[in-house]
Amino acid sequence: MILNGKKGIIFGALDTKSIAWKVAELAHAEGAEFILSNAPIALRMGAINELAAKTNSEVIGCDVTLEADMNNLIDAAVAKFGKLDFVLHSIGMSLNVRKKIPYTDLNYDFMHKTLDISAISFHRLMQTLLKKDAMNEWGSIVALSYIAAQRVFPDYSEMADAKSLLESFARSFGYHYGKSKKVRVNTISQSPTATTAGSGVGGFDAFFNYAEKMSPLGNAPSEACAQYVVSLFSDYTRYVTMQNLFHDGGFSFTGISNKLGE
Ligand SMILES: NC(=O)c1ccc[n+]([C@@H]2O[C@H](COP(=O)([O-])OP(=O)(O)OC[C@H]3O[C@@H](n4cnc5c(N)ncnc54)[C@H](O)[C@@H]3O)[C@@H](O)[C@H]2O)c1
Repeated sequence: MILNGKKGIIFGALDTKSIAWKVAELAHAEGAEFILSNAPIALRMGAINELAAKTNSEVIGCDVTLEADMNNLIDAAVAKFGKLDFVLHSIGMSLNVRKKIPYTDLNYDFMHKTLDISAISFHRLMQTLLKKDAMNEWGSIVALSYIAAQRVFPDYSEMADAKSLLESFARSFGYHYGKSKKVRVNTISQSPTATTAGSGVGGFDAFFNYAEKMSPLGNAPSEACAQYVVSLFSDYTRYVTMQNLFHDGGFSFTGISNKLGE
């Protein structure tokens, strides 16, 4: 029960495959209480209600590109719980990727949306939490990233740029949040994972299989990612902040693997 008594918000549980779904299940088992949030359009799909019932949590819609929605959600969370101990940002979306538009011919309206949903929302979230003084000291904020922020994976397209920005916000905001409120901020760079967002990237099977062969431990499954997230929400990782933490079975530091020839 390493999250006993801790309260928070979990963004991004769309269906049972979502990384956020696994985090919610484990956080609940570890004693946490939380609000589940997702975009209103995702809530209409209804699966999140099943998770809410299972974890005894409330669902509050929030389109993370809208300041009014963000304000409303944080106010509701504080009214329910008082100050928060953890927040998970597990959100990503690119219309350019969805529509398979080549990286050298991107639609800039779509790109604005991608950066807003997938990266700027992380800054908006932290700025809103800070302004409302909504986090307890030693609280923990985590967002999910991917190694395309550092290395080129052509089919990941503009999401790579969004992830670079996301990781940069973790460092920059992490400095300010640490200084003023002792709140830590990190990103977890996760292995390819078969979720709605993951499988939407062109050539996902190739990504997945290549990473599986390259990683000495194999690809990290979403359940293991949830364990890592929960450890970062716990008091056992109090001095970890402003980091991009690879949770990838060793992929990021492997040059070549014998398995590639098999
Ligand atoms: N699946 C992978 O291979 C993989 C690998 C590394 C990192 N990640 C990251 O993990 C995170 C979670 O993705 P996932 O793989 O669990 O897929 P997912 O599709 O289950 O989750 C993405 C979530 O973003 C939400 N979202 C989209 N637009 C939104 C908006 N405007 N407001 C609020 N929420 C919005 C969706 O409703 C969905 O719940 C993302 O940041 C993703 O980039 C995924």
